[in-house]
Amino acid sequence: MNIDGQAWRTIWLEEGGRSIGVIDQTQLPHRFTTRSIATLDQAAEVIRTMVVRGAPLIGVTGAYGLMLALQADPGDAALAAAFEQLNATRPTAVNLRWALERVRDRVAPLPEAERAEAAKQEAAAIAEEDVAMCEAIGEHGLALFQQLAAARPAERQGQPFNVLTHCNAGWLATVDWGTALAPIYKAHRAGLSIHVWVDETRPRNQGASLTAYELGREGVPHTVIVDNAGGHLMQHGQVDAVIVGTDRTTRTGDVCNKIGTYLKALAAHDNGVPFYVALPASTIDWTIADGVAEIPIEARSAEEVTDLQGRSPDGTITTVQLTPDGSPGFNPAFDVTPARLVTALITERGVAAASEAGLQALYAAR
Ligand code: MRU
Repeated sequence: MNIDGQAWRTIWLEEGGRSIGVIDQTQLPHRFTTRSIATLDQAAEVIRTMVVRGAPLIGVTGAYGLMLALQADPGDAALAAAFEQLNATRPTAVNLRWALERVRDRVAPLPEAERAEAAKQEAAAIAEEDVAMCEAIGEHGLALFQQLAAARPAERQGQPFNVLTHCNAGWLATVDWGTALAPIYKAHRAGLSIHVWVDETRPRNQGASLTAYELGREGVPHTVIVDNAGGHLMQHGQVDAVIVGTDRTTRTGDVCNKIGTYLKALAAHDNGVPFYVALPASTIDWTIADGVAEIPIEARSAEEVTDLQGRSPDGTITTVQLTPDGSPGFNPAFDVTPARLVTALITERGVAAASEAGLQALYAAR
């Protein structure tokens, strides 16, 4: 997608694959910088510290991390250790485990001398497939938005189609296009008048900093709101649809996503607002059925709750403390929205009911 008229992806190969480049998302929206990653440790560190983030991008970064590890040591023990190190960085997004398993399973049967090159090819394939899946999600979501917009009452027809989103499930969370934001970009480019309510998404503020940044660079009309405003807007008919991404969706359609998503789904349900979840196949965890009981929820540092990062008037990026000295914070990073609150899942293969039957109908052939 575009930044100041230049097309970017979130991750790329450098030096013929001796390192990878990424956008440093901890500096956005105030400073656009990139980082070079040349070692396994650096790859693990950028995932853990959220220099890169978003379930699909974490997966691709992990895959390239295995490539870097194999360039340094292609042996079985090093491969297993690198897998464990990368997989432990962020426990909730299943794309990470999925991508690591894919690379490991591709290279493990090969002679050691061929492993690093095979890992590079597999990681690149995962990245390209992610772009294609996200673009297809965009096309399916666009058709849905067009139907919903056309079905609005006559007095609402001249108004923008209002979509609310939580966290950042845009191109910065993937390789390109995004998941939840892909239908929005497609709709905007197709000429549908669309406006996005952007949840700030405390504590890391991925909505206020990243979603707003992306939408602004692409020229999509949007307004940032505090996380608590969504229910009020829905009560007053100002939200036509909610669309979010997901870090892991069970085979039964339970959706794990950024903390606060569940509350949005409850408010949408109470107000008859459709609640959609956009996801590629790599985010489905076919091994589990009960999201609340079985998905590990990442607990991050309490400082993300007690402190806030922003730009000072002098332009420096700084951190300030919000809470009184001595008040503890607690920071579960994700929650689970039960399938019964999800109107539909938008995947690269089409729109499915959030249920085992709905997902099976699309993914019978995997
Ligand atoms: O903690 P983050 O910023 O990695 O969490 C990201 C989200 O929760 C996204 O909404 C989700 O990964 C979907 S990304 C397409």
